[in-house]
Amino acid sequence: MSENAQNYTTNSIKGCGLGLRLEHFDEIEQQQPDIPWFEILSDNYLLEGTSQRDYLYKIRENYPLTFHGVGMSIGSTEPLNMDFMKSLKKLKDEVQPMWLSDHLCWTSAHGMVTHDLIPLPYTVEVVDHIVDRINQVQDYLGQQMVIENVSSYLQFKDSEMSEWEFINEITSRSDCRLLLDVNNIYVSSQNHLFEAEDYLKAMPVERIAEIHLAGYEDKGTHLLDTHSRPVSDPVWDLFSKAIDHVGDVPVLIEWDNDIPPLARLIEESDKAQLIRQQQLTRNTR
Ligand SMILES: [Fe+2]
Repeated sequence: MSENAQNYTTNSIKGCGLGLRLEHFDEIEQQQPDIPWFEILSDNYLLEGTSQRDYLYKIRENYPLTFHGVGMSIGSTEPLNMDFMKSLKKLKDEVQPMWLSDHLCWTSAHGMVTHDLIPLPYTVEVVDHIVDRINQVQDYLGQQMVIENVSSYLQFKDSEMSEWEFINEITSRSDCRLLLDVNNIYVSSQNHLFEAEDYLKAMPVERIAEIHLAGYEDKGTHLLDTHSRPVSDPVWDLFSKAIDHVGDVPVLIEWDNDIPPLARLIEESDKAQLIRQQQLTRNTR
């Protein structure tokens, strides 16, 4: 990353936030609920002159925001989409999120874009490629980016290392930060039969900017990361262990399908806050 790039800190983002969803716009604007911060799906706000963008400016007056996207396709072998990056940079400069994240995967190839988060083989060649791409992004945006671990449903026979070694190599060599999705760790651990705690304990604690929690669906043959349900009990357990390991980092509830009323989302966020606080208190005794 270039020397004049800005390193964001987590100082303005504390506690358990929520993903900002269209369905809750009016309620949030009118009632201004006591939510410490919102994460926005930045890809949905890139068009200028839209009512959604206007709404975002209003929300920004009362709540700290973070950006979360799927469109960067950091793992693709095609050049970065600079039209996309330009729009993202403009939005970032206007809204000034505390940080900006995307996923450790690829979402486009041969000019086609998918919103599926397609995993990568864990090889030295791919590490080199991703580090180069993240450096390009960080240099262009002038700040550290935050990269999120994804859930997966297949493994590549060409992989030369574990997923946690892959993440450590990439984050340390690119000096980026990590968005640790605890639900994704659990889903992948069940699909690929590894110990979720081994993964958790190998994470670079000092680089973790944020934790994600979400709900999955059990499809019988595999778990699917649907973001359509409450956080499951085993993921709450793993979350408690994550706080024990990672300490006091911001936490966010993601719920993107079958979206419930805002009050139900706040309940889920309150539960995360309670577990987080209990674990932090235990650790200070
Ligand atoms: Fe996530």
